[in-house]
Amino acid sequence: MKILTLLLMALVFAGMAKAEDGHQLWLRQQPINKAKVTGPECIAAQELRTYSTQNVTLKIDATMEQDAYCIKVNSEQGKVNSVISAKNEIGLLYGAYALLRGETTGSEPFYKLRILNHWDNMNGTIERGYAGLSIFWKGKAGERKFHGRTIFVEDPDQPIDAELIKEYARANASIGINGTVLNNVNASPKMLSAIYINKVKQYADILRPYGIKVYLSVNFASPMSIPAKGFNGGKPIKTADPLNPKVKAWWKAKAKEIYAQIPDFGGFLVKANSEGQPGPFDYKRTHADGANMLADAVKPFGGIIMWRSFVYGAAHSGEDRVKQAVSEFKDLDGKFRDNVILQSKNGPLDFQPREPYAPIFDNIKNTKQMAELQITQEYLGQSRHLTYLAPMWREFFGFVAPEKLVGIAGVANIGLDKNWCGHHFSQANWYAFGRLAWNPNLTSEQIAEEWLGLTFNASNNEALKSMMLRSREACVDYMMPIGLHHIFAFDEHYGPEPDGYNAHVPLEWCPVYYHKANNDSIGFNRTHTGSNATAQYREPYCTLYDNINTCPERYLLWFHRVPWSYRLKSGRTVLEEMDYRYARGVKEVEDFIRIWNETKPNIDEQRWQEVDARLQHQLENAKEWQKVCMDYFSSFTKK
Ligand code: GCU
Repeated sequence: MKILTLLLMALVFAGMAKAEDGHQLWLRQQPINKAKVTGPECIAAQELRTYSTQNVTLKIDATMEQDAYCIKVNSEQGKVNSVISAKNEIGLLYGAYALLRGETTGSEPFYKLRILNHWDNMNGTIERGYAGLSIFWKGKAGERKFHGRTIFVEDPDQPIDAELIKEYARANASIGINGTVLNNVNASPKMLSAIYINKVKQYADILRPYGIKVYLSVNFASPMSIPAKGFNGGKPIKTADPLNPKVKAWWKAKAKEIYAQIPDFGGFLVKANSEGQPGPFDYKRTHADGANMLADAVKPFGGIIMWRSFVYGAAHSGEDRVKQAVSEFKDLDGKFRDNVILQSKNGPLDFQPREPYAPIFDNIKNTKQMAELQITQEYLGQSRHLTYLAPMWREFFGFVAPEKLVGIAGVANIGLDKNWCGHHFSQANWYAFGRLAWNPNLTSEQIAEEWLGLTFNASNNEALKSMMLRSREACVDYMMPIGLHHIFAFDEHYGPEPDGYNAHVPLEWCPVYYHKANNDSIGFNRTHTGSNATAQYREPYCTLYDNINTCPERYLLWFHRVPWSYRLKSGRTVLEEMDYRYARGVKEVEDFIRIWNETKPNIDEQRWQEVDARLQHQLENAKEWQKVCMDYFSSFTKK
């Protein structure tokens, strides 16, 4: 980014370095009230009037594309007057935020669907949430206890926090996010009950002026436990079989009930036949049968179905887990309605710090697809490690052309914590997600620069930027060098547990299943002599990954099983290479601490201390990974 723009940003957002009560985002908190704004009275006008230093004219131009904006900056006699044009008030709002962050031209979004997925439970907890409880749902202590601990249950009587949701809306609009799924993919059927639909309506009303549509995750078996308005005398039905006419009628009635309250409701997100969730397979039906039935229900209202391909343990149970999505969906390609979108994680396993891209993106050609990225850092240090994810997402786009997709979903990292995301730097991942959903061709560097300028106004952005840009690779080094994967502590997915094995859970949850280390060898053979997962990739990757001489070493133990004596290109043996990389990762974190120390004079005390405490912890945890994994893996070579 040009120096001038950075300077401008620093000026516009001067004062942002104060943490105040801790409720800080990249959005300006302190009003300036300097700008004169003319044009339609809308949120864009309010935001500019409050936070801009320029005079701005807003113009509606009906010929422009949806969500696009155009900025023209005119300087006359030392005074800057800008004009923002857009098709409607939402476009003007995007333009206003762009102007506030220093943009001086126009832009239009690459994707129409730029959606956050909240894995928020109705009792207020968040699946894989590391920033406190849900901003949407609040629970209360229930009557049941589990191992002596009170179980929290949903509480529809709790009022919503309209002010907080408005701030959330502003933040999202400022980076172009235009949709939000309000509940966990492991969905409770109760989400579709009348009392909750009414709450969703309240959220939709707050979010609408900011251009954000609401969506819900649905439980496929919902018709069996809750009523739909005007259907079956208010009684649930006995099946969820997607081809049963009663089931179809139930979903149609439910869609009608929702759209009567929320006319612009976005649609449903579905996790079916995965990790114990109900789905069409329970009735020997296909994913297409299930998705199409729901698609028909929302179609008359303009709704969509985002059907997840994250499935394992159902129809192809027992097969190498990374292959199961392609096995289940390949033959269904082209059989989905046009308002169904297949939503797939970037990698074939589960949001590891580094995965090869998911080959489902190669195999599905006639069905709309979306990528699901995980903003919440489940396997990347959660809210305790500084891990900037833009480089990981950009890496994915290097394999899956952005044009192949119709949208992007991001599993949100937002909670009730004062700083929203648990770690101040985790906000950068929320920010980066929105910016990449708007334009997947932005570089990680550009986004980091923007975010640092807006958030910290620190003088040594170069050092902080380098820390952010190196952080994901450091995380890979100290958690999963040379393609090791899923050796995280059971369940919690924080810290190492390479010896993890439990006969009572599915084998695919056990770390030992993934590294397969014994006294001779280590790694998962996914080549043609093994599980043959490599065959699911398009050329040249199929051949590249299958051949140990051409497989990038970053994926070595993901695709290949090698003897301990195997030497990498560095000349080091497998164990020596691991040792080298674990140490390199730890050293990187030490350097992040050095950089952070240098910034001390430029960052407010509160945020400096909070980030420092987390960096110290990150170092401890990186060392733990190094020690536990090296002790464990070296024990094989000593026998
Ligand atoms: C991971 C994660 C689960 C989540 C699942 C999903 O397995 O650990 O908590 O439900 O992904 O994406 O559905």
